Amino acid sequence: MIKRVQSWLNREDRQTPVEISPDNIPRHVAIIMDGNGRWAKRRGLPRIVGHQNGMKAVKRATIAADELGIQYLTMYAFSTENWKRPKEEVDFLMRLPEEFLALELDDLIAKNVQVKMMGDADALPSFTRRAMEEAVARTENNTGLILNFALNYGARKELEDCMRAMGEDIQAGLLSPEQITADLIDSRLLSGGLPDPDLLIRTSGEMRLSNFMLWQLAYSELWFTDVLWPEFNKEHLLEAVAEYQRRSRRYGGLK
Ligand code: FPP
Repeated sequence: MIKRVQSWLNREDRQTPVEISPDNIPRHVAIIMDGNGRWAKRRGLPRIVGHQNGMKAVKRATIAADELGIQYLTMYAFSTENWKRPKEEVDFLMRLPEEFLALELDDLIAKNVQVKMMGDADALPSFTRRAMEEAVARTENNTGLILNFALNYGARKELEDCMRAMGEDIQAGLLSPEQITADLIDSRLLSGGLPDPDLLIRTSGEMRLSNFMLWQLAYSELWFTDVLWPEFNKEHLLEAVAEYQRRSRRYGGLK
């Protein structure tokens, strides 16, 4: 792994000389991909063209994360609040996983990527759900980068569902209140099995969490950039990781 990171860091096509230590690569990076609409608007194009180009940035970020040795990449693709957008835009966004996977799944499989999804799949159109299910099934034995799509995901709903399920288990005598620990909650969230993100990236200059992984981001390092998502590339990822490596993570303690 370290060798692979080193060779990539030395590649000649890198534009920015960023100092990165191969020993301190964030294990899990989560991204709030924001700014598709503004990117399109600045070019006098419909918002959906921004999303189309946002999809290309998803591929770039995935390849870059894999080459850098990041093990988990979670992408906020559609929130439980995004249904409020105009129907035309929602319809377009719902078609994107299908299009992305038709274009890229074979390549992702060749790169040993494992696709996962977290979110309320039942409320997705059947074609979106089927595309995700197929990608998850076809990659479930892959052992490389875990590419986790947050699709129809909202952290408050995730927590609400988790608490309700635990309440029901208590009522049914399957769980006692003393057994409710942070570890148990971790395991029962939609991200169960994934480590907490080490680094959260949000593009487009907005500085908020927008109902994303509220429990799991408790001790994550946050990095914001003005770059709009469709322009995001590997140099930006490197910049984020370099900044991450300058941070001192103390988890409330002392170094
Ligand atoms: C936020 O930008 C972006 C979204 C709500 C959608 C994100 C989706 C993608 C990047 C494509 C997903 C691809 C796959 C493969 C699932 P915005 O529309 O809110 O931008 P704005 O704030 O500039 O209006």
